[in-house]
Amino acid sequence: MLRLKDKIIIVTGGKGLLGAAFVKDIIKEGGIAINADISSENDLNKFEIKTDITSDDSILKTVESVLNTFGRIDGLVNSAYPRTSDWGNSFEDFSPDCWRKNLDMQLTSYFVFCQTVLKHMKKQQSGSIVNIASIYGAVGPDFSIYKGTQMTNGPGYSAIKGGLINFTRYLASCFGKYGIRANCVSPGGIFDNQNPVFVKNYEEKVPLNRMGTPDDVAPAVSFLLSDEARYITGHNLMVDGGWTAI
Ligand SMILES: NC(=O)c1ccc[n+]([C@@H]2O[C@H](COP(=O)([O-])OP(=O)(O)OC[C@H]3O[C@@H](n4cnc5c(N)ncnc54)[C@H](O)[C@@H]3O)[C@@H](O)[C@H]2O)c1
Repeated sequence: MLRLKDKIIIVTGGKGLLGAAFVKDIIKEGGIAINADISSENDLNKFEIKTDITSDDSILKTVESVLNTFGRIDGLVNSAYPRTSDWGNSFEDFSPDCWRKNLDMQLTSYFVFCQTVLKHMKKQQSGSIVNIASIYGAVGPDFSIYKGTQMTNGPGYSAIKGGLINFTRYLASCFGKYGIRANCVSPGGIFDNQNPVFVKNYEEKVPLNRMGTPDDVAPAVSFLLSDEARYITGHNLMVDGGWTAI
């Protein structure tokens, strides 16, 4: 059965590590995935539209172009990941300016995209939004996994993803009466050729003993977009190999 047959779904950050897997899985499920990434081509014939989610105007243009071409929007997956060059700094070196900019680029942009799309979903009386959060929106980081590496986890991510998870519950509460659902998917760490010391530390801690892959996460997103999840809203679905279970 094709779970997303003919559904029009915008995927922000669809060129990224996770976003590309979301696009692939939506297509596999019979859906039409519109790849809205800052590095997308501007060609809806190829189901791509260049979008900068940090620009309200760019978001508006993307939503209007998709509506003009396809007539409706059934789903939105927020997966774009803009960040500043100093985003990887530790708590001590994380400047207030870095905090402000990244909250705006990541959290405010997800809000604006949801708000812009919801105006139309409300008219349609249907729609499904999936915001990509993280285990670190639900629990604090375990710094022991960075032992023996230069890696760390800055403070901004916890605020952004924690805020996103509760904002998604707000959307579920506000828009349920219009037949619109809003959920989060929270991936654990995804393998991306990180420092082998970090990978080993991670694997030893996580109950399923391996890092995740984009293909582990994508079916969860497609499920929440689909009518099979018709009674699920305001949920935060962990796809984390058990990280948050312990
Ligand atoms: N990779 C992980 O381990 C992991 C784990 C948990 C959660 N996440 C979350 O998953 C989402 C995707 O992460 P990823 O690992 O695929 O990131 P990524 O860096 O691989 O991809 C992000 C994509 O966003 C695009 N992008 C950047 N700035 C943009 C902008 N201004 N407008 C539009 N597009 C822009 C990039 O071009 C890129 O294609 C993020 O929300 C991230 O926080 C990732």
